[in-house]
Amino acid sequence: MLMQTAAGKLMKVFLTRRIPPEGMKILSAAGVCEVSQWDSDEPVQRADLLKGVQGAHGLLCLLSDKIDAEVLDAAGPNLKVISTLSVGYDHLAIDEIKKRGILVGYTPDVLTDATAELTVALLLATARRLPEGVEEVKNGGWSSWKPLWLCGYGLSGSTVGVIGLGRIGMAIARRVMPFVVKRLLYSGRTAKDYAAEVNGEYVPLDTLVSESDFIVVSCSLTPETQGMCDKAFFSKMKNTGVFVNSSRGTVVNQEDLYEALSSGQIASAGLDVTTPEPLPTNHPLLTLKNCVVLPHIGSATYSTRGIMGALSAQNLLGGLQGTDMPSELTF
Ligand code: NDP
Ligand code: DGY
Repeated sequence: MLMQTAAGKLMKVFLTRRIPPEGMKILSAAGVCEVSQWDSDEPVQRADLLKGVQGAHGLLCLLSDKIDAEVLDAAGPNLKVISTLSVGYDHLAIDEIKKRGILVGYTPDVLTDATAELTVALLLATARRLPEGVEEVKNGGWSSWKPLWLCGYGLSGSTVGVIGLGRIGMAIARRVMPFVVKRLLYSGRTAKDYAAEVNGEYVPLDTLVSESDFIVVSCSLTPETQGMCDKAFFSKMKNTGVFVNSSRGTVVNQEDLYEALSSGQIASAGLDVTTPEPLPTNHPLLTLKNCVVLPHIGSATYSTRGIMGALSAQNLLGGLQGTDMPSELTF
């Protein structure tokens, strides 16, 4: 893959991980740059990242790679574009990147449906206690049909609150409405015209928390949303409330969530994202039957990951060549 700089040298790109073949094919077919890669399915170690990025014109990274001033310094002045294989970009030091005039590509929209489907699946699994039920079948705990055994909460006639009615939040709202939800509340920085499609009511966060039977967090991680779901938040929830987070782990204070779940302050929680990731197997949340934890698989369908791979490669090439980046982050 050979791409020449103005001085006639090859453009270098560094990939921090193996990426879906759809992305690699695009980079190879372009035949324009020299690719080096952390050739593993596991994250690159910091020292290897700092070494690998040296002199790179392009960087393709994942949400587990913290791209800060140290990495940008290690890359040096050649770096023109950072392409992340994710829609979330909280792992990128945007101010530093902006200061240096580096372009950023990301993968919005293409993972919205997959992530919304997974979030609704997690909501139902948590509310109707599916993992517990499956476990009881396997361990012999299923003795007979019992009127009050493994009862949970249903969506029909309920109030659902979506924190962050963006692309994914709206896709979640569209999917829960056919369950005959009574009210759909949402919170965020501004009211959305498009919320009318799901009869969404824009309310202050406190109202959403106290009036919802199900709360789904689908906002981006920002200084304002970091730690937003804390003791005060959980104490305002209904005791029958179900809490689901598919945004980023640090939106939730996990100690406070543990307390709320173990004391019966709230009914149950479903998490696709945690702090840290992976969550250590001896973490207290994993001892609770009313907490369902998934390993950050919101966008994990074969086709979605393939499209994310392709889009991240196109963004990288576009940024390098100064042509169209299909999904450039504007900031
Ligand atoms: P969008 O930018 O479309 O939506 C983000 C939403 O966050 C916006 O509606 C925004 O509301 C809201 N928000 C920002 N600040 C606040 C705040 N202080 N309080 C409440 N809401 C706020 O992004 P996407 O929907 O595409 O993605 C959302 C996030 O989902 C990503 O950033 C990522 O972290 C996560 N994600 C997780 C996946 C997984 O695998 N679990 C997969 C994909 C994404 P407003 O417009 O009013 O500012
Ligand atoms: C993202 O894209 O931000 C997700 O967390 C992974 O798909």
